[in-house]
Amino acid sequence: MVLRFVVILCCIKLISSFVSYQPEQVHLSYGGNPYEIVVMWSTTNQTNESVVEYGIGGLIKQATGLSTLFVSGDNETRSQYIHRVTLLQLTPRSKYVYHCGSDQGWSDLFWFMTSSDESTWTPQLAIFGDLGNENARSLPHLQEEVQRGMYDAILHVGDFAYDMDSENGLIGDEFMKQIQPISAYVPYMTCPGNHEEAYNFSNYRARFNMPGNSEGLWYSFNMGPVHFISVSTEVYYFLEYGLKLVTKQYAWLEQDLQV
Ligand SMILES: *[C@@H]1O[C@H](CO)[C@@H](O)[C@H](O)[C@H]1NC(C)=O
Ligand SMILES: *[C@@H]1O[C@H](CO)[C@@H](O)[C@H](O)[C@H]1NC(C)=O
Ligand SMILES: *[C@@H]1O[C@H](CO)[C@@H](O)[C@H](O)[C@H]1NC(C)=O
Ligand SMILES: *[C@@H]1O[C@H](CO)[C@@H](O)[C@H](O)[C@H]1NC(C)=O
Ligand SMILES: [Fe+2]
Repeated sequence: MVLRFVVILCCIKLISSFVSYQPEQVHLSYGGNPYEIVVMWSTTNQTNESVVEYGIGGLIKQATGLSTLFVSGDNETRSQYIHRVTLLQLTPRSKYVYHCGSDQGWSDLFWFMTSSDESTWTPQLAIFGDLGNENARSLPHLQEEVQRGMYDAILHVGDFAYDMDSENGLIGDEFMKQIQPISAYVPYMTCPGNHEEAYNFSNYRARFNMPGNSEGLWYSFNMGPVHFISVSTEVYYFLEYGLKLVTKQYAWLEQDLQV
């Protein structure tokens, strides 16, 4: 007679929290001028520093920035630290490599090309809106084409993730991870749509950093001979967030068009 013993080792550990200093959701945008690039990323836990190591051909320079705590608007709080570092005085039309993080954890190595300073330069852009976490049909094509160097920048004109605030911001986090193969390589310039409205556009304003200090909802920037202006039509629609935003944006637009 053979006795068979089946031993089931049951190892149950209820994981209620974990620690991560590892950068994720890495994305770029233009800073105050075409030769400034803002690098952003998130970590679950607070790090001692927010650092970008970068350079043409190697990680020879270092820039530091700040992080801010972002808590999703829902009652079940999910929090993350969103880091922001600006790279200044970059050389035009050059390929930079970089990684971001801190001594507690670094991202993968990424690269980006800076703008040209020639007025004859013809920038190439992909312009789209309405890209969700689910059914993101264009995403693999954009990831492929960006990494083949087809675009100098992306313009995503509203409606992200459907929606970034959903499931306590988890959908937003997943979306930011999905676009990293794009947004870590070219400036990912954005404007808010109606799907960003929750909690006074807080997910949009926390996760993206566009040039200027204009309430985070409208801005302009230059690429070669082109002056791009991004205005929010949502300020007319969600008046509960402040009627003042309508007049502020209008005054800003008038002034921007004069420069
Ligand atoms: C890391 O972040 C998690 C999630 O916010 C939190 O529960 C945990 O206490 C943090 N740990 C440390 C060491 O900060
Ligand atoms: C958060 O809690 C407050 C007070 O309990 C409640 O009024 C509000 O509806 C809740 N918000 C959400 C998004 O669940
Ligand atoms: C982070 O800062 C704390 C407090 O200053 C220090 O004890 C710790 O060693 C630092 N960690 C790293 C990885 O530098
Ligand atoms: C909503 O956010 C904007 C900044 O984008 C701020 O100016 C406005 O006062 C906020 N409105 C409310 C009702 O909190
Ligand atoms: Fe839409």
